[in-house]
Amino acid sequence: MWIFSSVLLLLLGQSIEMSSQTFEIDYKHNCFRKDGKPFRYISGSIHYSRVPRFYWRDRLMKMKMAGLNALYTYVPWNFHEPKPGVYDFSGDHDIETFLKMANEIGLLVILRAGPYICAEWDMGGLPAWLLAKKSIVLRSSDPDYLRAVDNWMGVLLPKMKPLLYQNGGPIITVQVENEYGSYFTCDYNYLRHLTKLFRRHLGDEVVLFSTDGSGLPYVRCGSIEGLYTTVDFGPGTNVTAAFEVQRFSEPKGPLINSEFYTGWLDHWGEPHSVVATERIIKTLTEILDHGANVNMYMFIGGTNFGYWNGANMPYEPQPTSYDYDAPLTEAGDLTAKYFAIREVIRKYKDIPEGPIPPTTPKFPYGAINMEKVKTVLEALDILVSYGPIKNTYPLSFDEMKQYTGFVLYRTLLPRNYNNPTTLASLFNGVRDRAYVTVNGVFQGILERDKAMSINITGTQGAQLDLLVESLGRVNFGRYNNDFKGLLTNLTLDEEILGNWTMHPLDIDSAVIGGLLLEASSLNTSSSTSPTFYKGSFLIPSGIPDLPQDTFVLFPGWTKGQIWINGFNLGRYWPARGPQVTLYVPMHILTSSLNNVTVLELEHSPCDSGKCLIEFVDKPILSKTKRFIRQEHLFNKI
Ligand SMILES: *[C@@H]1O[C@H](CO)[C@@H](O)[C@H](O)[C@H]1NC(C)=O
Ligand SMILES: *[C@@H]1O[C@H](CO)[C@@H](O)[C@H](O)[C@H]1NC(C)=O
Ligand SMILES: *[C@@H]1O[C@H](CO)[C@@H](O)[C@H](O)[C@H]1NC(C)=O
Ligand SMILES: *[C@@H]1O[C@H](CO)[C@@H](O)[C@H](O)[C@H]1NC(C)=O
Ligand SMILES: *[C@@H]1O[C@H](CO)[C@@H](O)[C@H](O)[C@H]1NC(C)=O
Ligand SMILES: *[C@@H]1O[C@H](CO)[C@@H](O)[C@H](O)[C@H]1NC(C)=O
Repeated sequence: MWIFSSVLLLLLGQSIEMSSQTFEIDYKHNCFRKDGKPFRYISGSIHYSRVPRFYWRDRLMKMKMAGLNALYTYVPWNFHEPKPGVYDFSGDHDIETFLKMANEIGLLVILRAGPYICAEWDMGGLPAWLLAKKSIVLRSSDPDYLRAVDNWMGVLLPKMKPLLYQNGGPIITVQVENEYGSYFTCDYNYLRHLTKLFRRHLGDEVVLFSTDGSGLPYVRCGSIEGLYTTVDFGPGTNVTAAFEVQRFSEPKGPLINSEFYTGWLDHWGEPHSVVATERIIKTLTEILDHGANVNMYMFIGGTNFGYWNGANMPYEPQPTSYDYDAPLTEAGDLTAKYFAIREVIRKYKDIPEGPIPPTTPKFPYGAINMEKVKTVLEALDILVSYGPIKNTYPLSFDEMKQYTGFVLYRTLLPRNYNNPTTLASLFNGVRDRAYVTVNGVFQGILERDKAMSINITGTQGAQLDLLVESLGRVNFGRYNNDFKGLLTNLTLDEEILGNWTMHPLDIDSAVIGGLLLEASSLNTSSSTSPTFYKGSFLIPSGIPDLPQDTFVLFPGWTKGQIWINGFNLGRYWPARGPQVTLYVPMHILTSSLNNVTVLELEHSPCDSGKCLIEFVDKPILSKTKRFIRQEHLFNKI
């Protein structure tokens, strides 16, 4: 009996030992305490949703070897709940595996759980299906919004609870909402609701916090009892003054900059953002000299694959690359900025011994021939997801439960238009671009905020088609309710067009299903209407360690979307820039035939004879750079 109970005690002792990890705020000494000892984090942001799972370990190891002891990551709600009540935590969406990997590697985690995240991510992480209620006030106490939030957090947070530090996991603190003080609602009941919700699911121990810009008005609206206030600011800021703003809300406790900007975001059509390393080093040093905790946003930016980019207002969508000029590039490459930051960190804490995982090799597979398959109109029957939907006036994507990509809007011309006649979206209601054809012949492009009218010609009864593209939903500010599609009537010669037929498209399924391989026998449409092209390539044999990462270049192409082996790499738009190449991670390539599908929305080079795309070993993210075509290293098929 005695032996039994001492064994029991021993076991109990072990289990107490296992759960004796603690993480708390020491208000007296203005610091964190981890397992009873003073602690500060030097952290970096990585978004698992922007790095393929295949590369998670490589990127986390590089962060660890830079001397970081923690990471910040956002949880994008719409990445995990594509439809109400339908959840995806598999593959690249497997946040639990990501967090366990961080734990294994020895990185603590600061979890930015949302529900809103901003992050230059489609609709700031909020699912577009919330817009089913047109008048919904997002990020407020709107009961329909809160109901959806409660359901989602009821799924997410119980998965996170075992991963809290005190339960043996890596999560030391959890952020609630994101820069809420910058939002117009300033709804304390909403923040109170979230705080209670998080407490209910995560328990009383974990530190919950808020992050806001380092200005008093932001902190006033973004802070609430129960959430520890942190601030964010970039290089060149007066660090003392910025932390005084945090002190306004938190007179005691650790100083924290939750987003110290190592670079900056891009928009299509604007110059690529670059932030000089010297500026970063200077302010980072000041922050660390203050004894503060810091998170570098981003440490690696990664990629907006597929349709995941967001947009800012006035409407400016972000490109596919989220390189951010961060210390690790989009492709995870080590940079001078990485090593400079590592040297700063070394002055404040130990850097792990051992080799840094090297930059992964990139391979220039060369040019491959592309071949026209079908126009979107020719492929319509294999692209439609359901429908068609008929309505007198146009419906939005959201009314048709189409949340990304493309919808084809069709009507017939009510009379003859022999002279150029104005087709107009009088109230700027095209969200975001419409590629206009009459009987399959390209007429022009309508674009939100940029092109509200074009002239067209055609005869009575001719088919007027608008392929409408969402360029990504606004992720910041009061314009989050970013409906897509045709939101207002179109007029032709000042007459409202009616009798619409709408085809929501599921292009990704058609690509994955191999339905876009057979060329059209019709051969009627010109190459200036939206058209699919295909190509394929083999990884050369006899070269060790292939396949490797690569970048794809679009010489003479204009704007569109590209898939390799069914993986949606994102949008290309060299005609606008600054991004010219797209990152191709090696794990999507196979040693057998690799299939490429390109949807060119405007103009391909194929009529002029040079119908090719090219795989190169260097990214071009800044359109102003000149590039030299690589030698064609390998076969064309
Ligand atoms: C920085 O802010 C502090 C506190 O507000 C102020 O005393 C100091 O003069 C400022 N430094 C500079 C260089 O502006
Ligand atoms: C459309 O045509 C009218 C004349 O028919 C002309 O005045 C107008 O500038 C044209 N608009 C565009 C956008 O080309
Ligand atoms: C389109 O025009 C019709 C007829 O004037 C009108 O009833 C309807 O409200 C308009 N739709 C939009 C979205 O403006
Ligand atoms: C729709 O089509 C019908 C039949 O062609 C026509 O009578 C009606 O005026 C059209 N409605 C609109 C709003 O264009
Ligand atoms: C399609 O048209 C082009 C030129 O317009 C021609 O070169 C090609 O042979 C045609 N293809 C088919 C399948 O008819
Ligand atoms: C590429 O397409 C061919 C059919 O043309 C198919 O047999 C092959 O499995 C595809 N490869 C991949 C990696 O999807």
